[in-house]
Amino acid sequence: MLEKIRQTAAFLKDQLPKMPETAIILGTGLGELVNHIAIEKEIPYKDIPNFPVSTVEGHSGKLIFGKLGSKDIMAMQGRFHFYEGYDMKQVTFPVRVMKEIGIKTLFLSNAAGGMNPDFAIGDLMIIRDHINLFPEHPLRGKNFEELGVRFPDMSEAYSKELIKKALKIADENNIKVQQGVYVGTQGPTFETPAEYRYFHIIGGDAVGMSTVPEVIVARHSGINVFAISVITDLGVEGIVEKVSHEEVQKAAASAQPKMTLIMKKLVETF
Ligand code: HPA
Repeated sequence: MLEKIRQTAAFLKDQLPKMPETAIILGTGLGELVNHIAIEKEIPYKDIPNFPVSTVEGHSGKLIFGKLGSKDIMAMQGRFHFYEGYDMKQVTFPVRVMKEIGIKTLFLSNAAGGMNPDFAIGDLMIIRDHINLFPEHPLRGKNFEELGVRFPDMSEAYSKELIKKALKIADENNIKVQQGVYVGTQGPTFETPAEYRYFHIIGGDAVGMSTVPEVIVARHSGINVFAISVITDLGVEGIVEKVSHEEVQKAAASAQPKMTLIMKKLVETF
């Protein structure tokens, strides 16, 4: 694994004179952020050695290097989900490479179903903490001390300092934001009413199918993390409605300007 990480990092370092210290995983709700990046280099995943190959047609991702404001950044357009069939080492491989090229801070977004009765569709939720319910752990197996410790601390997986800054940005721009606990599940089914209820009872405010594996590996690697969810549907008792991928995309699109503004300002100024 170490050899592959180093090989991929070396390939990327060869592409540009300087590597950024900030990375963004452009999940649902952040696709449009790309339009704010002054792009210096784009590399399709299929051209990057050892990168997982996309299984979904029309889902071919790429790495983007450029500037957001005055900040050098690397953005992942397209991420790897466990439900697509990748194993956890593949899902999180890009984060390992990030560490190796010198990334210090990682920003992520996702779509999630809200269980908190105070939430509404289209709300943004800054992730304060998570509950990992994926059936496979990205750190299972031999630990490489070069990458991180065997038993990583997770007491502050999501940087309190970045959360504080994001809240200030939201406040200054009159954007309502929620905060909460994200439950990471494998999908690809959305939840049954009983499952939403269960996830709320155990302490979750929203549930989704990504982010947690990447955050675990980022923390194992000592990378600071900030993540935000767009609430695209509700799993609140009594009002669980039918949900489809299309509705998720639609709700995410309507929340996109708010999400983009917060992320853009936060990344530019943190
Ligand atoms: N459950 C799981 N993942 C999701 C949901 C949900 O309700 N909405 C968007 N992603």
